[in-house]
This record gives sequence, structure tokens and C-alpha cells, in this order.
Amino acid sequence: MRRLAAATTFDENYVTRSPVFVIERQGRLVAFYGFRLIDGRMFLDDMFVAPELIGTGLGIRLWKHAVATAQAHEYSHFFIEADPNAEAFYVKLGAKRIGEIVSPSSGRRLPLLRFNVGPAEPMRRAVGTPEM
Ligand SMILES: CC(C)(COP(=O)(O)OP(=O)(O)OC[C@H]1O[C@@H](n2cnc3c(N)ncnc32)[C@H](O)[C@@H]1OP(=O)(O)O)[C@@H](O)C(=O)NCCC(=O)NCCS
Repeated sequence: MRRLAAATTFDENYVTRSPVFVIERQGRLVAFYGFRLIDGRMFLDDMFVAPELIGTGLGIRLWKHAVATAQAHEYSHFFIEADPNAEAFYVKLGAKRIGEIVSPSSGRRLPLLRFNVGPAEPMRRAVGTPEM
């Protein structure tokens, strides 16, 4: 996965100010997510998988990368303005619903979730002799 550079399909300020990452297959963008700072709160924004690849594991790959990015930036938590159909996906991964938010773009009331990031998993040192 690579960090997205400014591209014509995204608002340039978004990709230069925020971490936005994409997965490409044969040069085609098939999945992406980004973080966006809104009113001093960090939001996981725009997590999308191409429709024909939904359910093939790209979403979990994006999520794990997003959590690692949040850890690297030392975000203690982030928020998700979830599409109602995706809420169960985020809840399954540990996010908690904390209320609702009116989407500034669509005016829809959307579930507002929060995910507590926690520290990166420490590398564990192997102790003792492995079982044969
Ligand atoms: C939500 C989305 C990113 C998930 O990506 P995905 O590639 O389909 O997810 P994965 O294949 O990695 O699935 C990972 C796990 O989450 C589960 N899951 C995926 N989507 C789910 C959903 N909407 N509700 C509940 N569980 C879901 C899968 O069943 C799978 O579980 P398993 O490991 O037990 O089999 C993707 O469906 C998507 O882009 N949807 C349309 C756009 C959208 O709504 N984005 C969210 C904006 S807030």
C-alpha cells in the first residue's frame, strides 16, 4: 500500500494535508482510505472498496493499515462517520457507536463511531524452547 500523492481525482488539499492510502491492482485504484482532521477531531474518512471486490478482504487490509497509521501518528483514538451499511463492519473491528452526526455533505444522519487506537503491539521476545 502506498501513500497517495496529490491526484486529479481528489481534492489536492485533502491528500497533501491528510494521510490517504490506496490499493492498486494493475494500475487501477481499487480501494482507499484517508484520515481527515475536522474541528480538531481525527476522522477515518472515505474507506471504500471497488464494488466488484467487496468481500474479498481489502476492507480488513485497509482497516489494519489505518490502525497502524493512527498508531504511527500517535492518535489515541479516531472517529468514523459511518455509512449505515458499514457500521457493523467497524463495530466488528472494535469501534463503538457514540451517537449520530449530520453529514455536512449529504445532510443524512449517520452513525458516529469511535475507535480507541491503543499502542502498537510490542514485539514479543521468544522465551524458552519451542515445543517439538
Ligand atoms: C465497508 C467496506 C470498506 C468493507 O470492505 P470489504 O472488502 O467488503 O471487507 P472484507 O472483505 O475485508 O471483510 C472483513 C470482515 O468484515 C465483514 N464485513 C464486511 N463488510 C461488512 C458489513 N457491511 N457489515 C458487517 N460485516 C462486514 C466481512 O464479512 C468479514 O468478516 P470475516 O472476516 O468474519 O469473514 C466495503 O464493503 C465498502 O467499501 N463498502 C461500500 C462503501 C462504504 O460503505 N464504505 C464505508 C464508508 S463509512
